[in-house]
Amino acid sequence: MGTKHFLTLLDLSNADLLAIVQRAMQLKRQPEQARGLPQKTLGLIFEKSSTRTRVAFEVAMTQLGGTALFLTAADSQLGRGEPIEDTARVLSRMVDCIAIRTFEHAKLERFAEYSTVPVINALSDDFHPCQLLADMQTFMEHRGAITGKSVAWIGDGNNMCQSYINAAVAFDFELRIACPPGYEPSAELIEKHGDRVTLMSSPATAVANVDLVVTDVWASMGQEAEQAKRRASFADYQVNSSLMELANSRALFMHCLPAHRGEEVSAEIVDAKDSVVWDEAENRLHSQKALLEYLVSR
Ligand code: CP
Ligand code: NVA
Repeated sequence: MGTKHFLTLLDLSNADLLAIVQRAMQLKRQPEQARGLPQKTLGLIFEKSSTRTRVAFEVAMTQLGGTALFLTAADSQLGRGEPIEDTARVLSRMVDCIAIRTFEHAKLERFAEYSTVPVINALSDDFHPCQLLADMQTFMEHRGAITGKSVAWIGDGNNMCQSYINAAVAFDFELRIACPPGYEPSAELIEKHGDRVTLMSSPATAVANVDLVVTDVWASMGQEAEQAKRRASFADYQVNSSLMELANSRALFMHCLPAHRGEEVSAEIVDAKDSVVWDEAENRLHSQKALLEYLVSR
């Protein structure tokens, strides 16, 4: 069997994804139950900023008895043009797992092709699967199984939105996506998963009676130059109290963070009683610990 990577949720079976989320819930309650990864090293290559993902991986490795090694492209030879294929082969001979945050998803795929140790997508322009493990854990902790529930994604058809499409398939829920024209997720993904996913332009229609409302920034990392243009295009796509009122009365609100209050979400919603954004952030630690246990102690 080849090396197991986690570049998108669909790299793992539905059963394994659910097992990782359940294990994360258990490790949160009983951290002493972790199998531990003594002597193991996780390499972290980050070409974009991060608070949660980086801290969760570093703390997870410390708690598991291993080590995390943080590398920025600028400080390593990658930044000076050493080929990805060579970097992958070299690091594979020294570390036990590598998490990468980068721009083009294809770069991750190329790295993984040459890596003999598991590669984790710590966010690419197209997908952010680690965040979805935490989101699924958070929903299940608050409301039980997500299977058969309905979720509204409001805003940009970005890496998080595309990961929700994969999650809808893997965890079997209905996903309604409301995006302004021109900012939809990949047409190929929508078409492929049309049985779980519906694309619409009206946020009000998307949130009607759903169990979970999710949004994310209007301009992702790498799109800073488009910020003003995007602010205008997304003006009608803010998650605020009047939009949340249309959802199911027990609907949760999630945001992967960092949030821009007053843009994609109003300040009162971030701190509302059904907002679970802080649990969602904490669960990055527990779910990434469960993921590392799964990938590294195989
Ligand atoms: N949600 C998330 O991935 O946060 P960071 O960019 O801080 O890692
Ligand atoms: N869509 C955002 C997510 C940040 C965690 C970005 O890519 O910047």
